[in-house]
Amino acid sequence: MTGGVTCSVLLNTVLIFLLIFESVTNGMLYPRESESRQIQELDGMWNFRADTSPSRNVGMAEKWFEKQLAKTGPVIPMPVPSSFNDITTDRKLQHFVGWAWYDREFYAASDWENKRVVLRIDSAHYNTIVWVNGQHVMHHEGGHLPFEEMVNPYLKFGQANWVTVAVNNTLTPHTLPPGSIEYMTDKNKYPPGYFVQNFEFDFFNYAGIHRRVRLYTTPKVYINDITITSRFEGSTGYVQYDVKFGGLGNKTYPFVEILDRNGDTVAKGVSLSGTLHIPSVTPWWPYSMSKDSAGYLYTLKVTLKSESGSHDVYRQQFGVRTINVTDSQILINNKPFYCHGAAKHEDSDIRGKGLDFPLIARDFAMLKWLGVNCFRTSHYPYAEEIMDQADAQGIAVIDESPGVGIRSNANFGNKSLEHHLAVMKELVGRDKNRPSVILWSVANEPASNKPMAQHYFKTVISYTKSLDPSRPVTFVSDAEYDNDVAAQYTDVLCINRYYGWYQDTGHLETIPYQLTYDLEQWYKTFKKPLIITEYGADTVPGLHTMPSYVFTEDYQVDFMRQYHAVFDVFRKKYLAGEMVWNFADFMTVQNVKRVVGNKKGVLTRQRQPKAAAHVLRHRYWSLINETHSLNKSLGL
Ligand SMILES: *[C@@H]1O[C@H](CO)[C@@H](O)[C@H](O)[C@H]1NC(C)=O
Ligand SMILES: *[C@@H]1O[C@H](CO)[C@@H](O)[C@H](O)[C@H]1NC(C)=O
Ligand SMILES: *[C@@H]1O[C@H](CO)[C@@H](O)[C@H](O)[C@H]1NC(C)=O
Ligand SMILES: *[C@@H]1O[C@H](CO)[C@@H](O)[C@H](O)[C@H]1NC(C)=O
Ligand SMILES: *[C@@H]1O[C@H](CO)[C@@H](O)[C@H](O)[C@H]1NC(C)=O
Ligand SMILES: *[C@@H]1O[C@H](CO)[C@@H](O)[C@H](O)[C@H]1NC(C)=O
Repeated sequence: MTGGVTCSVLLNTVLIFLLIFESVTNGMLYPRESESRQIQELDGMWNFRADTSPSRNVGMAEKWFEKQLAKTGPVIPMPVPSSFNDITTDRKLQHFVGWAWYDREFYAASDWENKRVVLRIDSAHYNTIVWVNGQHVMHHEGGHLPFEEMVNPYLKFGQANWVTVAVNNTLTPHTLPPGSIEYMTDKNKYPPGYFVQNFEFDFFNYAGIHRRVRLYTTPKVYINDITITSRFEGSTGYVQYDVKFGGLGNKTYPFVEILDRNGDTVAKGVSLSGTLHIPSVTPWWPYSMSKDSAGYLYTLKVTLKSESGSHDVYRQQFGVRTINVTDSQILINNKPFYCHGAAKHEDSDIRGKGLDFPLIARDFAMLKWLGVNCFRTSHYPYAEEIMDQADAQGIAVIDESPGVGIRSNANFGNKSLEHHLAVMKELVGRDKNRPSVILWSVANEPASNKPMAQHYFKTVISYTKSLDPSRPVTFVSDAEYDNDVAAQYTDVLCINRYYGWYQDTGHLETIPYQLTYDLEQWYKTFKKPLIITEYGADTVPGLHTMPSYVFTEDYQVDFMRQYHAVFDVFRKKYLAGEMVWNFADFMTVQNVKRVVGNKKGVLTRQRQPKAAAHVLRHRYWSLINETHSLNKSLGL
């Protein structure tokens, strides 16, 4: 990443003198237009070529990045953003593992020469190398998180340029999620060089350039990062902010203002960091707890003037709210928050995990229709455009890293740990200012019953807390209360349970016994609030039986009712939430247990309701009404 500049600040008046150090940290502010910033979208049809050579290495060896991809061999059109897997009719491409190559042309305006031009990829899965005009620009490991680099040295201003992106979806024991390549060497059973990608997570390993690709400009001295934390006392909001700038310059003249939802200025400051007061603050609330201030966002408008006279302006949204965790509850703004939610996936027909605005809007419409007040980004960070909606619509988020399927001994080594810490830093850096994020989840269903998980998760969790002391941290466990070695380090217990599905399949009557015992033991052992982060049953839409039978819509309904009865007992004690698995059906690997994907959605993959969705909707809206039996003025 770009060598930015950190500053130790001696501030007194508007004039600030800075000592300049080299730094490796770089902000990851979302690209936003402003008086000083322009954006050029690079989304659309790109040229695409998968390296299907047995070694998958011919493209690298032949340096396909040195010329237009179409000059290296046959290319096909590939939409960006999207996963490449389900676009064509080619089975080989659907299951392709290795380097996939993309390129396209663009123009760089001649008046950009005096600006800083940054190329940002919001996410590509997994290992990505980027060249501009044949010159290496950046390399990033990991899907689901953005990466960027200043590209001025590589650009031809006022002329055509081309960008090449190579993406490798190979998972190794040290990637997140981890996986391994297995070579099938029995010549009587497999073609020469045959290999498969193995991993321990239950969703399709979609790959490609999954989110937006953009160029954006800033002045040469620019706002590099903004960190905001907030709290309130009585009706006064306290907003602590810290602005980091980049570029060479000894003096900056910062000006910050807080704007309310109407755009009116409610506070001002003239330093790079400090605490501003908002009189009569409107806190951020989940929509299930407040109508008028649901998703209430303020804007910190930062204007940075440098001694050379250039101005940079950036507007960062934030909310004023607190999160506290007691031994039995999660409090938002000092009021108990009961999470009635759903786990999700970024998944849809044809485009896979590719960013899709209609799908985002539809998902939020269905989340609200269901009465969901909280979702988990299972099992990887979601697109920033999704997180924006959670902030603005007042839906709480458990923000999860791509740490899923950490199960074999090889996944717990120092190399894996180091990468996991780097990923947490990227995730916290990206989402730290989001009021919707109430809890970080560092992993899903790791082998937290293995002794080696103790050091590993102690390290990841304490590191995450050091990155963000303002939020609680957890991981999601499928181990048992008496063998989990990592749950002790969490602030909130999150556990996944499938009584009546994976265990005692079809035996609905066992659910209350097993679930009750389990909840009691977890609480007795750890004395922390507890969320059931998954429970669910596969359901083929349209299948009905009476009495209910596994895989029918009727079974999903009966199954959920058993869980809900137990939840109703414990939510008055230390159960802080329930989250159905899953919001919608989603694709998985081909497997005799999965009929074209995982069917545990209460919605189909097309986001239409199954019978259970109506049960859930009635329950969740009753809970919202109960929360506000309260306040007729809510009129929910
Ligand atoms: C790219 O993919 C190939 C094929 O799976 C694999 O052998 C290679 O190690 C991968 N390289 C990187 C840097 O991920
Ligand atoms: C920073 O200040 C020093 C001393 O005042 C000066 O010599 C130097 O040229 C300045 N650097 C820049 C980039 O303005
Ligand atoms: C709740 O958390 C906020 C920070 O989010 C902190 O300032 C406050 O002291 C906490 N309150 C309690 C009662 O712990
Ligand atoms: C991992 O690192 C720690 C400390 O940095 C060291 O004590 C330990 O031996 C290392 N473990 C392995 C498996 O290399
Ligand atoms: C919630 O309250 C509203 C307004 O009082 C009412 O119309 C609705 O039926 C209630 N929903 C449930 C599920 O109780
Ligand atoms: C009900 O709403 C009013 C106006 O928004 C507010 O002043 C009051 O505190 C609310 N009452 C409860 C119990 O939330």
